[in-house]
Amino acid sequence: MAAIIVEKSDRLEGTVQASGSKNAVLPLLAATLLTDEPCVLGGVPVLKDVEVMCRLLGCLGAEVEGDRAAAQIRVRAKAIRTNVAPPELVKSMRASIVAMGPLLARTGGAGVPLPGGCAIGDRPIDLHIKGFRSLGAKVETGQDENGGFVSAEARRLKGAEMYLDFASVGATENIMMAAALAEGTTIIENPAQEPEIVDLANFLNKMGARIRGAGTDMIRIEGVEKLHGAEHSVIPDRIEAGTFMLAAAITRGSVLVDNMLPNHVVPIIAKLRETGVYVREEFGGLRIDATRGTLRATDIKTLPYPGFPTDIQPQFMAYLATVLGSSTVIETVFENRFMHIDELNLMNAGIEEKGRRASVPGEAALRGARVRATDLRAGAALILAGLAAEGKTTVSDIYHIDRGYEDLTGKLKKLGAKISRL
Ligand code: UD1
Repeated sequence: MAAIIVEKSDRLEGTVQASGSKNAVLPLLAATLLTDEPCVLGGVPVLKDVEVMCRLLGCLGAEVEGDRAAAQIRVRAKAIRTNVAPPELVKSMRASIVAMGPLLARTGGAGVPLPGGCAIGDRPIDLHIKGFRSLGAKVETGQDENGGFVSAEARRLKGAEMYLDFASVGATENIMMAAALAEGTTIIENPAQEPEIVDLANFLNKMGARIRGAGTDMIRIEGVEKLHGAEHSVIPDRIEAGTFMLAAAITRGSVLVDNMLPNHVVPIIAKLRETGVYVREEFGGLRIDATRGTLRATDIKTLPYPGFPTDIQPQFMAYLATVLGSSTVIETVFENRFMHIDELNLMNAGIEEKGRRASVPGEAALRGARVRATDLRAGAALILAGLAAEGKTTVSDIYHIDRGYEDLTGKLKKLGAKISRL
């Protein structure tokens, strides 16, 4: 079975490039369903999740062509063959749910099985449904032979004002895409403000949408009759960049993370600095220098953007296990995002979990073990811990890691990590 083998590594050194953002490219691909004209996305990362989204677009009737060397994907959804998403694809990737808004807006209906993906909590879709209903769609949920499903119908969506009880990324994306073709004006109060939302709004605006306020606490969308084709380059992956920042820190190395936007990782920079890591902008990238002084504990609490990202919490926790003093980690975004703790403890991290709060004692003498990537970012955290642990760490269930990291082992190896795939 595929696994990643990591051995204790010296300080990582050199330069690493972040790839295009996984969480940005998935909704961008879904947005191509909103027009019958061709769209071209550049800076696309080579990831399992991207492949799944392309297969989904193909099943719905779009022509999809990828050019790996140019990191480009061209999609033309000239006609939508079916507006019902196949269960096997949706079950393997939760982000498939973002196809629902475009399908509903373009065809007047959409059917999507209840999604799968990383098992980090229940991850309901009530806010997506609330948004579609506010836009005038008739939404039904139920069970069929494949499990749960949600379907929606509306001859033409109608703009509306709505408030999201939680600033959900996926719900904001779905509503923004649906509202782009609705009749009249939509206002989303308390939307997600993540950079991936801004990237999607920029792409939709290039397609002829009229969206303002993406990245703030209110988004205003003037619906238009039709959208056209457009070209767009995906923003760099701030979570992948953050993972490399922590790889430098956990090995006490000095790494330049390139092709990234430092203003997208402000909380990660701030928290690394609090522990004593030296971080500065260099040649448009970020230099992470953890070679000097004693690194000390700090506390982190995850929050929607611009707060500390939940997608970096596991990797940061692995790092905190190695510094002087004890730290507290509080997870507020997902109710079940501590599955990496049991695995890190197999490596002697000694972390204690109480509800959504974890106590990390620090100064752990980490030792290699056989561990399981329980989800995507947990897998990254275990690899980082493996770089700092005595002996050999074998990480299994690495399909989670392949979903969201482009050539993670190759990139770490170039920085000097002792890592290989089995
Ligand atoms: C996206 C990211 C994921 C990241 C997460 C939070 C993608 C493909 N994935 O996931 O990597 O960890 O944002 O930054 O972009 N919720 C509800 N009802 C809903 C929707 C969400 O209660 O209808 C809850 C979820 O259960 C969760 C929280 O809101 O507790 C955040 O979820 P959301 O922001 O929607 O995350 P995703 O879009 O699934």
